[in-house]
Amino acid sequence: MTQPARPQLVILDDETMLAEMLARSFLSDAALAIAARGVFCVALAGGSTPRAAYALLSSPAYRNALEWERVRFFFGDERCVPPDHPDSNYGMVRQALFAPLNVSETTIFRMRGEDEPSAAAAVYAQTLVRELGPGALFDLVMLGMGPDGHTASLFPGMPPDDGSGDLVQVRLAPLGMRVSQRLTITPQVINAGREVIVATAGAAKAQTLARVIDGMCDPVSYPIQSVRPGSGRLTWLVDRAAAALLRPRP
Ligand code: 6PG
Repeated sequence: MTQPARPQLVILDDETMLAEMLARSFLSDAALAIAARGVFCVALAGGSTPRAAYALLSSPAYRNALEWERVRFFFGDERCVPPDHPDSNYGMVRQALFAPLNVSETTIFRMRGEDEPSAAAAVYAQTLVRELGPGALFDLVMLGMGPDGHTASLFPGMPPDDGSGDLVQVRLAPLGMRVSQRLTITPQVINAGREVIVATAGAAKAQTLARVIDGMCDPVSYPIQSVRPGSGRLTWLVDRAAAALLRPRP
C-alpha cells in the first residue's frame, strides 16, 4: 500500500504573495488536467484567502491564461442561504470570478443553499457522482483553515469522517459563526482529490497551524487534520505570519 506523499509546505512572504501563488497553482493544475483529460474539475473554497486568488484569476494579468470553458466549477462547502445572500460562497465567487470572466452557468455546479439542507446535500452528492464518477474525483480541491482548525464546513467537536460514506453532509457551525447550517463535502471526497491545496494566512492562525502541522493527530479537535489525500498531493500555502510558530524545517 503506497504511503500518502508528505505534504508540501510553502511559506510566502505575505497574503498578497500567497494569493499570487494560489492563483498560479490553480492555473498550473488546470493546464495539467486539461492536457490530460480535456477538462479541469475544481472544488472551490469560501473565505477571504481564496477570494483574493479568484480576483487575481479574473484580472487582466491572468484571465487569458486558461480556456475557462474547459473548467467545471464545484464547491467544497456552502452556507445554507440563497445564492444572493451576502454570506453565500457561490455569491462571493460569482462576484470575484464568474461574473468578470462571464463563466457559463452550465459549467458551474453550486450547492443549493436555499433548499432544505439534507435534501440539498443529497442532490449535490448525486451531482458529484454524475459529473465526476463514483469516486467523486476532483483534479483540485481548494481549502482554507479557520482559527479553530476547521476546513470546508467540517467543524471541531465531531469526527470529520463519520464513516457513513456520505459524499456531502449537513454540518452545524459553532455558535457565534455566521449561518449555522452548512453543506460540506466530506474527507472522503477531499482525500480522493488529485491535488489538495490548503491556503492559510494571518497571525491569528499561527497557533492552530503549529498544532495542526507539528502536533498530535486529533481530527475531532482539528478537522483539517483529516485532510490526508490517498494518492493525491497535499500542499499547504501559508504566509510568514501564519507560519511564525512552526518548528524550524531543514
Ligand atoms: C467558508 C470556508 C471556510 C474557510 C475558513 C478560512 O465557507 O468560510 O469554507 O472553511 O476556508 O473559514 O477562511 P479564511 O480564508 O477567510 O480565513
